[in-house]
Amino acid sequence: MQSAYNRAVGEAFAALVVSECADGSFQRAVTSRKLADLPPNDTLIRVRYSSLNYKDALSATGHRGVTRHYPHTPGIDAAGEIVESDSARLKPGDEVIVTGYDLGMNTPGGFGQYVRVPSAWVVKKPDGLTLRESMALGTAGFTAALGAHQLQRHEVTPECGDVLVTGASGGVGSLAVAILSRLGYRVVAATGKAEAHGWLRALGAQEILSRDDLHDTSGKALLKERWGGVVDAVGGAILATAIKATKRGGCVVCCGNVASPELHTTVYPFILRSVTLQGVDSAAADMPLRAQVWQKLAGEWKPPPAVLAAIAREIALGELPPLIDTILQGRLQGRVVVAL
Ligand SMILES: NC(=O)c1ccc[n+]([C@@H]2O[C@H](COP(=O)([O-])OP(=O)(O)OC[C@H]3O[C@@H](n4cnc5c(N)ncnc54)[C@H](OP(=O)(O)O)[C@@H]3O)[C@@H](O)[C@H]2O)c1
Repeated sequence: MQSAYNRAVGEAFAALVVSECADGSFQRAVTSRKLADLPPNDTLIRVRYSSLNYKDALSATGHRGVTRHYPHTPGIDAAGEIVESDSARLKPGDEVIVTGYDLGMNTPGGFGQYVRVPSAWVVKKPDGLTLRESMALGTAGFTAALGAHQLQRHEVTPECGDVLVTGASGGVGSLAVAILSRLGYRVVAATGKAEAHGWLRALGAQEILSRDDLHDTSGKALLKERWGGVVDAVGGAILATAIKATKRGGCVVCCGNVASPELHTTVYPFILRSVTLQGVDSAAADMPLRAQVWQKLAGEWKPPPAVLAAIAREIALGELPPLIDTILQGRLQGRVVVAL
């Protein structure tokens, strides 16, 4: 009998394709691709939803640290149904999630209606989430949840004091606010968007700071102890300031670098206050941790439906190109789910 895969192999499908122009610039357009264009991995997925992350915007604008070869379809997130897989673990019709690994970097990603990936990248969607909700969370939510996981691992409990979330109106930040407040932490959200204050309170933030308040220029090695924990999406001076103001035994989770990849600090927060600086690499999280964190995101860590609805809006593939510029400029609020 002809398999679903073989029936589908000649099919054309829609994808956002980024191409390099002769002058070195990059252009994006929704075009038709063939299943035969996808790499020869063992699992074919019909993508129903993807989402927009900062890394996708880097891939879509020719950032060689993310994507080496063009034309290319970005999209580090994909949720959909198995069409065919060589893995005994995955049956046609199973609803699955793929985030990170090489998806959307040098493997054609979730901004296309089909992806073909190694089965080792595939997480079965937990029952407590719809495919759409899984992409409202996506890599941003998974990363925020890894941040919460690291705070718990380092025994930062709600009793340890306020938790600071930076880049709070962005994808990682807004979901960190929602998840940490759901876990009982008193969340202080730092944002550069004055218009986002009310929205951040609705997500669960108890206090809002302006980004500028978190840029210490005193030259001091240590500041008054303020944070039990920190989830930082921006790096640079804001991260350095947060480390200086973290309480004894606290943990600072470093997730991103939208402000700067640089970090200028002294050793004093570490040797005088036992502060931990903990990195998160969501793309390479191992499968047992992935499955555990997605299970939590489908259960006791899942933001309430009204909060997820406030964070994520849905668009069609053709509406993506301008939003790629918006996220690169730091102007995107919340999450964008792409329906395919
Ligand atoms: N480690 C990992 O595994 C992992 C996973 C996912 C993402 N990331 C990284 O995390 C970062 C955030 O990703 P995202 O998808 O959440 O992006 P995003 O939606 O664009 O959010 C970033 C937010 O940071 C703030 N921001 C922007 N420019 C800034 C600047 N110059 N200085 C200070 N704050 C600025 C803005 O929030 P406000 O206006 O509210 O301040 C912006 O909304 C990126 O660097 C991304 O690569 C890492």
